Amino acid sequence: MNISVIGVGYVGLVTGTCLAEIGHHVTCLDIDQGKIKQLNQGLSPIYEPGLEELLQHNLSKQTLSFTSSYQAACKEAEVIIIAVGTPSNTDGSADLSAIKNAAEKIGAYVRHTDTIVVTKSTVPVGTNKKIKAWVSGNLKQNVQVMIASNPEFLREGSAIHDTFNGDRIVLGTDDSKAASKLQEMLKPFRVPILHTSIESAEMIKYSSNAFLATKISFINEIANLCEKLGANVEDVAKGMGMDQRIGHQFLNAGIGYGGSCFPKDTNALVQMAGNLHHKFDLLESVIHVNAKQQVKLVEFAKKHMKEIKGKTAGILGLSFKPNTDDIREAASIEIINALLKAGVRVTVYDPVSQDKVKLLLGDSVSYAEDCFAAIEDQEMLFIATEWEEFKVLRLSTIAKLMKTPNVFDGRNCFSLHEAKKTTMNYYSIGRPAVMNHCTEKERV
Ligand code: UGA
Repeated sequence: MNISVIGVGYVGLVTGTCLAEIGHHVTCLDIDQGKIKQLNQGLSPIYEPGLEELLQHNLSKQTLSFTSSYQAACKEAEVIIIAVGTPSNTDGSADLSAIKNAAEKIGAYVRHTDTIVVTKSTVPVGTNKKIKAWVSGNLKQNVQVMIASNPEFLREGSAIHDTFNGDRIVLGTDDSKAASKLQEMLKPFRVPILHTSIESAEMIKYSSNAFLATKISFINEIANLCEKLGANVEDVAKGMGMDQRIGHQFLNAGIGYGGSCFPKDTNALVQMAGNLHHKFDLLESVIHVNAKQQVKLVEFAKKHMKEIKGKTAGILGLSFKPNTDDIREAASIEIINALLKAGVRVTVYDPVSQDKVKLLLGDSVSYAEDCFAAIEDQEMLFIATEWEEFKVLRLSTIAKLMKTPNVFDGRNCFSLHEAKKTTMNYYSIGRPAVMNHCTEKERV
């Protein structure tokens, strides 16, 4: 099938590449010509395990190509997938200007009658109807399009795996011809397909992300209580997760959710509800809990150390989660800003996202060449992302390298058993603090 994908961000690039991999002819379009040039050379602009290999494989098979020309992308396309960004406006609502622009351009250049315009971008409920109007407003005589919503559920860092091993594909369309053609297109993924109305498909996306965010804020609040009650959140989550109605996933307590999806989509859903005079109390609390959780480690440091002003801190991990270079809404940035505000001198390290942080924070922090350089001689160490290369470190080595071994682990990377065998103070999330090293408060 001839497919075009508009927008080569995370979703667009992974979708286009995977559709080419299952045998379709895919043309991906982006208005960023630098990106297109890079992609045509087989270089991925994002860090995503396995993506560059698939990209190069399909470029060489000539089943995948990249362009900046709407004419080239729309001319032969039977299916056009919109995957442009929908960033947040200042009030939390979704900015649809890129979607509108793409829809109008598609309308102007589409030539095949019965082309299906599929939206993968996360858009407020009701937007697909607007997309139909924006496309139709520009169509040539005798050309008609069908509209469908196909929300994306892949996760950054495991996007390729998720595309081929998803739990479900949701197809929302009011047109049975579009539904069966899209089902045919997606069949090789061998993932169960749920057919719904357009509005329900749009709503499934927001509800799924909001529910997962709720699960995370819920377990983080339980963790906060565990700390006060002497319980261990990991055991609590395990015991809860064994109940199949609850499930084990997304019950890892930590320093909150970040990234380009949960923060944006929860805010947008609250905003959408507000527009309909419905106050979404539950989701507002989820967002509030998350904001507090992101800077919780700094509060720990202020509580347990006599004074943090003038001290030094290392930060391990900057991306919002491992296996990605994405730092959008990352807890690390909130922690760094809070530490800088408190007068702490900060050294950071991340295996892949350091350059992005440099663009954001400039020389307000120092950049370490490896994790050891970020640990050495520090008075505090904050672990913000659970990269595998941090989890294999020995706590005893960390303790030896630091000037005063105060470790604040926001992702529970180490066992309490190991921490107890060291000379450090080890503070983690929802587990009893291990205090082997005399705290400065105790010393006075
Ligand atoms: C999320 C959803 O999981 C995808 O299904 C969805 O397609 C995507 O948003 C999207 O809307 O595009 P993603 O943001 O890539 O995917 O990452 P997740 O793996 O869901 O993690 C989000 C955040 O939650 C991370 O900061 C992670 O550290 C945090 N998290 C996750 C926890 O704190 N605890 C957990 O148990 C799980």
